[in-house]
Amino acid sequence: MPANHPEFDVLIVGSGAAGLNLALELAEFARVAVITKSELKESNTYYAQGGIAAVLDEHDSVESHIQDTLIAGAGLCDEDTVRFVVEHGREAIEKLVAYGVQFTQQTTSEGAPEYHLTREGGHSHRRVVHAADATGQAIETTLEQRVREHASITLFEHHNAVDLWCDRDTGGKSSRITGLYALDIKADRVKAFTAPFVVLATGGVSKVYRYTSNPDICTGDGIAMAWRAGCRVANMEFTQFHPTCLYHSKAKSFLISEAVRGEGGLLLGPDGKRFMDRFDPRGELAPRDVVARAIDFEMKRLGAECMYLDISHKGQAFIEEHFPMIYENTKKFGFDMTKEPLPVVPAAHYTCGGVMVDRQGRSDVDGLYAIGEVTYTGLHGANRMASNSLLECLVYSTSAAADIRERLAHGVDRPAPPPQWDESRVTDSDEDVVIVHNWGELRRFMWDYVGIVRTDKRLARAQSRIDLLQSEINEYYGNFRVSSDLLELRNLAVCAELIIRSASARKESRGLHYTLNYPNTDDARQLHPTRLTPKRCPINETP
Ligand code: FAD
Ligand code: SIN
Repeated sequence: MPANHPEFDVLIVGSGAAGLNLALELAEFARVAVITKSELKESNTYYAQGGIAAVLDEHDSVESHIQDTLIAGAGLCDEDTVRFVVEHGREAIEKLVAYGVQFTQQTTSEGAPEYHLTREGGHSHRRVVHAADATGQAIETTLEQRVREHASITLFEHHNAVDLWCDRDTGGKSSRITGLYALDIKADRVKAFTAPFVVLATGGVSKVYRYTSNPDICTGDGIAMAWRAGCRVANMEFTQFHPTCLYHSKAKSFLISEAVRGEGGLLLGPDGKRFMDRFDPRGELAPRDVVARAIDFEMKRLGAECMYLDISHKGQAFIEEHFPMIYENTKKFGFDMTKEPLPVVPAAHYTCGGVMVDRQGRSDVDGLYAIGEVTYTGLHGANRMASNSLLECLVYSTSAAADIRERLAHGVDRPAPPPQWDESRVTDSDEDVVIVHNWGELRRFMWDYVGIVRTDKRLARAQSRIDLLQSEINEYYGNFRVSSDLLELRNLAVCAELIIRSASARKESRGLHYTLNYPNTDDARQLHPTRLTPKRCPINETP
C-alpha cells in the first residue's frame, strides 16, 4: 500500500457521537479510518448538555415518546423512522453504559439506584438521561478512550475532508464511492484515501449563522460534499434556533440548557414578569420553535437586547448539583444564577435537514453513508424535539454498521485510489482578506434575512447575495491552493444556498420555518419534506 494512498474498509469522516460509535461498532471486523478536522473530541457532541431522550421510566412509554416527537415535528416527521429510533433508545443507552459512560443516578424510595431523568420542551414525561449538565463531554470522552484503545481504528486528526471521489469521476459508469481527498492541516498537503465504504458523520451547519451555540467545526462540510457528489438533501429550511444562549459579548453563545427550564426555570421579560403563557399553554416547556420565536418577538416588541432565565428560586444546592458546568461557566462571565436571572438570546443550534438517507444510513451514492446531524432521516420533521439528536446518532451508527458488516461479509471490489491531488494550476492565495470578509458577510446576511422570521423579500435578497458570493468563492477555489478556511467557506456557501432555496420553496409557516408572507400552515399543499436534487444525482440517470 503506497504511503500516500492508505487503504481501509471504511472511511469515517467525523468524530462526534455518530462517527465514534460507528467506529467502535465496525472495529471488530473492519479496518477503519476516522478522519477528523480538529482534535478527536472537538465536535458538537462534546458540548451537548441536556442529555439523551429514551424511554427508561416504567410510567413512560414508547408510544408517548413517538407522539411527542411527531407533535414537535409539526406534521413532517416520518412516523416509521420515529418509531424505529424511539424503539432502539434503551439499547443505545445500554451500549453507552457498557462503554463506561456514567449517567447521573438517584436513589429510589426503596434505596435502589436508578437514572435521574430530566425533562425538556415537548416531552410529556421525564425521559432525558444525562450526566449532570455535561452529557456530551461524558459520552465523547468515553467513546474517545475506547476508540484510542482499538488496534483496527486508525485516527487522522487535523485532516479536513475536501471532497468525495466516485467511480464516474474517473470516467467509470457507476456512481460508486471510491474514496476522498483530505487536507492534512499540519503538513499542509492534500492526501487521497481509498475505501469501498465512506461514512459522513460531519455534523450540521449552524456556523452559517452569525450567532450559534455550535463550535467552529460546524460548517456543513458533509452536506456540501454529498451534494457535490450527487446526493439529494431535504428539509434544509428547518434550522433550529435554541431559545436560551447566554447574552454576553465574550460568551460566544454559551448554551443554557433547556433542562434548566425542565427543572423549573422561568423566562422573564426586562420587567421581571413571565411572558411565555401569552404564547403557548405549555409555557416555558413549549417546543423550541415556539419559545425561540416568542423571545424574538418580545425582544423586537420591546426593543430589548435579551430576555431573562431565572432558576434562582430552586436554591444554591439544587443548582450546583444539577447544573454545575453552567453555574461555573456563567460565574466566569460575572453572573450568579443561584441569586439572579441570566440574560439570554436565541442562537442557531441544530440542522434538522441534511443528506437524505435510508434506515441503514445509505445515501444516493452507492457505498456512501451518512449518519448523525449531517442527515435527513425523517425523525425530526419541521422541528427536532430536545435530546432526540444524540439518540439518532447512536441508533443510525448501529444500523449503518450492521449494513456495512453484511456487505463486507459478502465481499466487495477494492476500488482504485483517486488520482493524486493536482496543484499544477493553482498558486498561494494573494489576499486572504477575501475569505475573512466573505465568511463575515455570509453569516451576517443569513442571520438577518434567513433567520427566525423570514419574508419573501428577505429570502430574495439572500439569494442574490449568495449567487455573487458563490461565484467569487468558486473563482478563488479554482485559482488558489486550499486552506481550511477556504474549504469551510466554500461549504458554508453551498449550504446557505440550499437553506435559502428550501426556505423559498416552502410557501407556509411550519415548525422552525416561519415567514410573514405565509403565516399559516398549509396542510393541503405543503405537507411533505422539501427535497432538492443535484444535477448529477444517480436517480436522474437512466439505467
Ligand atoms: P458532531 O458531534 O458535530 O461531530 C462532527 C464531527 O465531524 C466533528 O468531529 C468534526 O470535527 C468533524 N468534521 C466536520 N467536517 C469535517 C471535515 N470536512 N473533515 C473532517 N472532519 C470533519 N443533542 C441532544 O440530543 N442532547 C443534548 O443535550 C444536546 N445538547 C447540545 C448542546 C450544544 C451546546 C450543542 C451545540 C448541541 C447540542 N445537541 C444536543 C445537539 C447534538 O450535540 C448534536 O446534534 C450531535 O452531537 C451531533 O453529533 P454528530 O456525531 O452527528 O456530529
Ligand atoms: C439543551 O441542553 O438545551 C440542548 C438539548 C438539545 O439540543 O437537544
